[in-house]
Amino acid sequence: MFLSSLVVSFALLLPTVQARPKSYAVWAADSGIARGQGNGLDANGAALVSYEHGEFQWGLRLLYELTGNKTYFNYIQTGANNIVFPNGTVHGKYNFTAYSLDPIRTGPTFIYLYKKTSQAKYKTAASVFRSQLNSHPRTGEGQFWHKLMYFNQGWLDGIYMGDVFYTAYTATFDANNATAWSDITAQFQLMFDNTLQTSTAPNDTGLLYHGYDFSHTAVWASPDRGHSPEVWDRALGWYMMALVDVAEMAPANSGQLKPTVLRILNDLAPKIRDAADPKTGVWWLVITQPGRAKNYFESSGTVMFVYALLKAVRLRYIADPDGSIVAAAKKAYKYAIANWVVPNNDGTMSWMNTVSVGSLSGDGSFDYYVNQTVDLNDLKGLAAFVLASLEFEKL
Ligand SMILES: *[C@@H]1O[C@H](CO)[C@@H](O)[C@H](O)[C@H]1NC(C)=O
Ligand SMILES: *[C@@H]1O[C@H](CO)[C@@H](O)[C@H](O)[C@H]1NC(C)=O
Ligand SMILES: *[C@@H]1O[C@H](CO)[C@@H](O)[C@H](O)[C@H]1NC(C)=O
Ligand SMILES: *[C@@H]1O[C@H](CO)[C@@H](O)[C@H](O)[C@H]1NC(C)=O
Ligand SMILES: *[C@@H]1O[C@H](CO)[C@@H](O)[C@H](O)[C@H]1NC(C)=O
Ligand SMILES: *[C@@H]1O[C@H](CO)[C@@H](O)[C@H](O)[C@H]1NC(C)=O
Repeated sequence: MFLSSLVVSFALLLPTVQARPKSYAVWAADSGIARGQGNGLDANGAALVSYEHGEFQWGLRLLYELTGNKTYFNYIQTGANNIVFPNGTVHGKYNFTAYSLDPIRTGPTFIYLYKKTSQAKYKTAASVFRSQLNSHPRTGEGQFWHKLMYFNQGWLDGIYMGDVFYTAYTATFDANNATAWSDITAQFQLMFDNTLQTSTAPNDTGLLYHGYDFSHTAVWASPDRGHSPEVWDRALGWYMMALVDVAEMAPANSGQLKPTVLRILNDLAPKIRDAADPKTGVWWLVITQPGRAKNYFESSGTVMFVYALLKAVRLRYIADPDGSIVAAAKKAYKYAIANWVVPNNDGTMSWMNTVSVGSLSGDGSFDYYVNQTVDLNDLKGLAAFVLASLEFEKL
């Protein structure tokens, strides 16, 4: 009698509450896969080279290496095969002469698959991106333009899009190229120097503005240094993820690359910790304008910081003698799982509160950033949540 009523109540629960993986990293990755996200195709099933697919594949690779579950590897490979022809040509709306750094972020996937499968097409595809960098337009100081259409502009985003690949490629195929190592080092340093917020105004954070225009001609460029007006959380999140990922890949003979990214990481990490909202522990969309009407807590930048901070401490790239960096990351992560993860009836989860875009193609103003739509299941945020979860679950 007792037993059978137990069975009945379980049976009643089952259709609405399905078991979910214990690991948030697995749950988020499986949910993205179930929705067909990040597979080298757009919403209409047409091939698409997309940096956020590259970001998601980076997380799936780590999950595959952790669990040995081939589902993740196969998904990465299917995604790459959707944008690389058997002869190694990259398609999926990739335009070499548009000189955009964004598509390059899928390149680390090609290098990974080449190492795993030895299939020449992946090396050929990677070499196409590498040759784009050889003729990519640069500022007078040598910084890659974000895109040809963004004349003389360096954006923090571009460091993640271009230089994670540039590092992976050089480490794999061209490790003795000292020119390449010093060039990658310069990309990080120039971006830092040109976007560092140096004033002492009340809201200033000592963090990095979204970007700069070397020619000072963009509508948003400051007259003195050409930087954009606000600190946007996701731009800085991309840059922070690039710092830790590049530090990990930089081999011993990479010249000043590793000391440079570690110096920058040590400068920024405590400032990011201190810029978190004291109550919730997470970060405002426009970090420079805490509490201002229409500003909000944004999820992609937040989990990018969690990933970068935890990885930096785990690999001893930064010291955390009082534990305050890890504590800040844990607090933010707990807020994220309590507020931005939504369980669905089919056993998947959804991810909330990621801003769809933030570009310097407009006026770069506070109004611009807060005007952008907020997406459900935006892959830029979901992929970063996989990465943050992988780090949190290693604690
Ligand atoms: C591998 O991952 C997939 C997707 O999460 C899951 O359905 C499958 O059961 C896993 N396989 C193993 C052997 O754990
Ligand atoms: C590579 O293959 C694609 C698709 O079959 C084809 O359109 C393209 O011309 C080929 N490129 C070269 C260089 O052979
Ligand atoms: C590729 O980009 C260049 C530079 O923006 C542009 O002139 C060209 O029309 C683009 N090609 C295609 C096929 O869109
Ligand atoms: C080494 O890297 C530099 C800078 O990217 C590049 O111009 C050069 O072609 C590379 N050398 C070789 C042998 O690939
Ligand atoms: C500083 O922040 C306050 C509150 O968010 C905002 O109203 C003000 O405009 C900001 N000041 C500057 C100089 O950005
Ligand atoms: C933001 O949206 C408001 C209301 O739709 C509009 O009036 C304003 O011009 C927009 N500002 C920017 C910078 O996009």
